[in-house]
Amino acid sequence: MNVFWSVIASVVKRQYYTAPTPTGRMEGPCVRVGREAGEATRSRLAEADLIADDYEITVEGETLYIPVTDPDAVPDEFEVVTRQAPERETQTMPADLLGFDPSYERLGDVVLLDEDDRERALEIAQAIVDSDLPAETVVNKQSKVKGETRIRDWEVLAGEGTETVHREYGCEFALDLESVYFSPRLATERHRVAEQVDQTDRAVDMFAGVGPFVIPFAKRGAECVGVDINEEAIAYLRENARRNGVDDRVTAICGDVREVATEYEHWATRLVMNLPHSADAFLDTAVQLASDECILHYYDIQHEDAPFEPGETAIRAAAESEYDVTVETRRVVRSYAPHEENVCLDVRLER
Ligand SMILES: C[S@@+](CC[C@H](N)C(=O)[O-])C[C@H]1O[C@@H](n2cnc3c(N)ncnc32)[C@H](O)[C@@H]1O
Repeated sequence: MNVFWSVIASVVKRQYYTAPTPTGRMEGPCVRVGREAGEATRSRLAEADLIADDYEITVEGETLYIPVTDPDAVPDEFEVVTRQAPERETQTMPADLLGFDPSYERLGDVVLLDEDDRERALEIAQAIVDSDLPAETVVNKQSKVKGETRIRDWEVLAGEGTETVHREYGCEFALDLESVYFSPRLATERHRVAEQVDQTDRAVDMFAGVGPFVIPFAKRGAECVGVDINEEAIAYLRENARRNGVDDRVTAICGDVREVATEYEHWATRLVMNLPHSADAFLDTAVQLASDECILHYYDIQHEDAPFEPGETAIRAAAESEYDVTVETRRVVRSYAPHEENVCLDVRLER
């Protein structure tokens, strides 16, 4: 809704309400209903577009008062009374200022844009700064993830630093977008995997970044090793282990996982391989790290016609001489590009 229509809608919705009292409350029509029927009543009124969104629903004992826009339109079965309702504090969002709904992601107090047109990106950045979003910095994508460390280039459009603290499922991750890889889009997927972990696990994240798998695993009691070739990512992983109170269960190692693996031969009950496009080249290392029973979470990016087959074939080729290989889950995590899927295979290896 653009600014004009939101103002009109707000005027229409307020017409039955008096001027505010000194306590910031307005008097107007409310549907009175018992608490047990509250949600059903609220959804009936919402379906009929009768709820006065500018005012709060109030509760008194076992009774709810739901502010309504037009008492005459409320079905007879509901009781309408006149009552004071506190005004709802509304937030100004970027869309309210722009007149269109921009797409963006949030990573801590940094807002991430993916706009080709720089003028449009600057306009959105300004609206974000002027809105009530708790944003300190706005950045726009300048490249794909690239090179060994999978970092992308960003242009800072508003604010200064690109360092932030991102919160995800009760964990905190300090990171700097300019020096490490991080994607907030994978939060649900990471949580799915973390929920499988318990204190009997010994987990190696072979490409750990700042620890978005390692930290929640350790919080669930697992002994964890995180390896990354990016020194800055490992520094953040160590900081994040301290921040989340799990540094006693996290070992962070900077190096090429192929070289580190000799220290942890046949140690891991769980392996994470989130290096899509090239994880297959590290499957011999995964086999070297796997204990007699091990779950492998293998991420890949493949054509939508056969997104799981290349990974499964590569895993079988690397592991089947030593392990029984069972693919337990084949999961599309997200669409990566037109006709390309980011997928995960959860694979059980049993010696
Ligand atoms: C796609 S990121 C994943 C990071 C993290 N697991 C996550 O989900 O956010 C891949 C990571 O692998 C690291 N990496 C690339 N090659 C590596 C290697 N040979 N050994 C260890 N780490 C490597 C990169 O530096 C990068 O941080």
